[in-house]
Amino acid sequence: MLDRLAPILPLSIAFLVTLAAAAQEPFVQTGYKVGQTIPVSCLNRTIDTGEHITDESGQLSYIPFYTCNETGRPFELLFGVEKDINCTVDFIDDPFFHLLEFYVHNDAPLTCRIPTKPLPPSALKEAFEKGTKDDTDGQGALSEVYTPMIVALTGTLQLSHLHVSTSLNVLVHAAPQSIAPGTIAAATAYSIARDPPTRIVIGDSLPLRFSVRWYPNTSLPSGWTGVGGHLTFSTLVYCLISAGASAAICLAYFRGIELPRRLKSHGKDRLGGVERGSGLGGYGIANGGFGGYGPGKRD
Ligand SMILES: *[C@@H]1O[C@H](CO)[C@@H](O)[C@H](O)[C@H]1NC(C)=O
Ligand SMILES: *[C@@H]1O[C@H](CO)[C@@H](O)[C@H](O)[C@H]1NC(C)=O
Ligand SMILES: *[C@@H]1O[C@H](CO)[C@@H](O)[C@H](O)[C@H]1NC(C)=O
Ligand SMILES: *[C@@H]1O[C@H](CO)[C@@H](O)[C@H](O)[C@H]1NC(C)=O
Repeated sequence: MLDRLAPILPLSIAFLVTLAAAAQEPFVQTGYKVGQTIPVSCLNRTIDTGEHITDESGQLSYIPFYTCNETGRPFELLFGVEKDINCTVDFIDDPFFHLLEFYVHNDAPLTCRIPTKPLPPSALKEAFEKGTKDDTDGQGALSEVYTPMIVALTGTLQLSHLHVSTSLNVLVHAAPQSIAPGTIAAATAYSIARDPPTRIVIGDSLPLRFSVRWYPNTSLPSGWTGVGGHLTFSTLVYCLISAGASAAICLAYFRGIELPRRLKSHGKDRLGGVERGSGLGGYGIANGGFGGYGPGKRD
């Protein structure tokens, strides 16, 4: 019996040793998979001054983003998924209203962050319930564990109420797949004035509308094709047509007016005059056609 087991015994021991090692080793962070949820947590701030709050150990206190009425969960992103996400914060209580005043009045930013790579399962659960901690793996401060995402919420402050631009763009850059797959490189969010700003008083709900877009590296694609941007096909066609039209006008002018006049005035001095005249005329047409490159070519 033992004889027959002997060949596989070292293998199974190796297997068990590997298992034990895996159990002891700290969680190895792999990248996000497409569609994986990413918790968003934000700095807790005092409502008196908008100052950030630190815990007993002096660490900044990050709490989950506000709970969305649509999902019953704090706002979250999905890795690599571009979509519009509605997140209505159901009830603006007094403290939240004061914080909104700080954000809109630029006294303090809405400072949020997302884990750069997936958090270990235990920390992930905590992230949704209590917020994210800096010492997730007990190794002290790990600044690269999170990617900051400042939410630039804009609006205007009135005496009794606020106007908040509640439509926001969210841009998230992933690190290039070839360098660090499933890793977040940078993120930002900002209000856009798509709809008129929402009027807010205490007790209202805050209807946040996020448009999330993802980029596969840290360079932004160029999106501008209008005036002053790239040469578009219609611009090219327009240039060609106007070049052709000006050439035709020059030709007509030369044939109909200029040439007969020159022929008349240089009638006596025949040979030299006509030759000179047609020579200039050739450049004249070229001038019209190429929009003013002519003078340099003159003999
Ligand atoms: C944020 O800080 C305030 C003041 O310290 C505290 O009362 C509140 O519970 C904190 N929020 C969360 C979600 O922990
Ligand atoms: C939020 O959800 C609750 C129950 O799910 C509902 O009663 C309430 O009207 C909703 N609020 C908004 C602003 O949609
Ligand atoms: C979000 O809410 C707006 C109305 O404010 C609605 O038109 C839109 O369809 C909603 N989008 C999603 C993805 O639920
Ligand atoms: C970044 O990604 C874009 C696609 O959005 C691609 O066109 C571009 O070549 C990439 N740039 C680099 C430096 O890899």
